[in-house]
Amino acid sequence: MISTKLSNGLSYDMLGFGTYKITGEFDAKQAVLDAISVGYRRIDTAVFYDNEGEIGLALKASPVPRSELFITTKLWTNVNTYQKTIDRINASMEALGVDYLDGLLIHWPHNNNREVWTAMEDLYFQGKLRSIGVSNFKEHHIEELKRFARIMPMVNQVELHPEFRQFELQEYCKKEGILVEAWSPLMRGEALNIPLIKELAEKHNATPSQIILAWDIKEGIAVIPKSTKIARMAENFNALSVNLSDDEVESLNKLHNGVRRYRNPDNHGFGNQGEL
Ligand SMILES: NC(=O)c1ccc[n+]([C@@H]2O[C@H](COP(=O)([O-])OP(=O)(O)OC[C@H]3O[C@@H](n4cnc5c(N)ncnc54)[C@H](OP(=O)(O)O)[C@@H]3O)[C@@H](O)[C@H]2O)c1
Repeated sequence: MISTKLSNGLSYDMLGFGTYKITGEFDAKQAVLDAISVGYRRIDTAVFYDNEGEIGLALKASPVPRSELFITTKLWTNVNTYQKTIDRINASMEALGVDYLDGLLIHWPHNNNREVWTAMEDLYFQGKLRSIGVSNFKEHHIEELKRFARIMPMVNQVELHPEFRQFELQEYCKKEGILVEAWSPLMRGEALNIPLIKELAEKHNATPSQIILAWDIKEGIAVIPKSTKIARMAENFNALSVNLSDDEVESLNKLHNGVRRYRNPDNHGFGNQGEL
């Protein structure tokens, strides 16, 4: 595994497993067990994904000890007071069957990040959260957080894929000691047909998804590709053995067209109540 260190020294695998939409007809327990069997040790979930309970069952059944796994969940926008934050963290830990979380993120910025962050900091100081961070925060959201934060976020998980590289945010987060993590790194599968990516895949005897994930990791961006299929989980995991040259990365970075594909954090439409 290729790992980095968060600003508090915690080891963080650059490649983790995403679980959005693995719910309902999809078996999140089996998916997480498959991911662990392939080699993933870091699992990304969220209250919004409605699969913490099933993931908890996977953790219970997993042959890999809890101490070797890194479990991150995220607070939805309806968690917007100090007490709701404490209550939700306890509920998530219970659903996941754990007595600490390795990572906890604010899922989307809202208008009471302050109370939520303060509660997260308190649980971090108590040892219940091993790292805390944010998701979908632009520079101005982080600048606002800075006004009251006792500790800075360690991770910022954002939309980042071949067509939307977030160069300025990457630069800003680097300066602030915040690790950038890409969500939808494969553009939900749509990036796999981009000609340059296919061309490099052929050249490296690799696959398009492996080229994209290797590119991100080489750029210091953590990734959490999702799949319900064990063969694709393994394919994505094997991105760790693809080595791109600096020139190749430079040419890939030119795929950026600046167009966000998904929700804009300034206007995400989830309100402060978070319609679920
Ligand atoms: N913080 C946030 O606001 C936020 C937002 C979105 C996502 N996320 C996190 O980021 C994770 C990843 O993002 P994502 O799930 O939206 O998108 P993604 O990982 O870019 O793409 C997942 C899609 O690509 C397909 N896929 C995966 N590997 C493949 C491969 N090797 N070849 C062909 N197709 C492949 C999957 O289909 P199959 O399942 O059928 O294989 C799925 O449809 C999420 O699961 C979630 O944990 C966070």
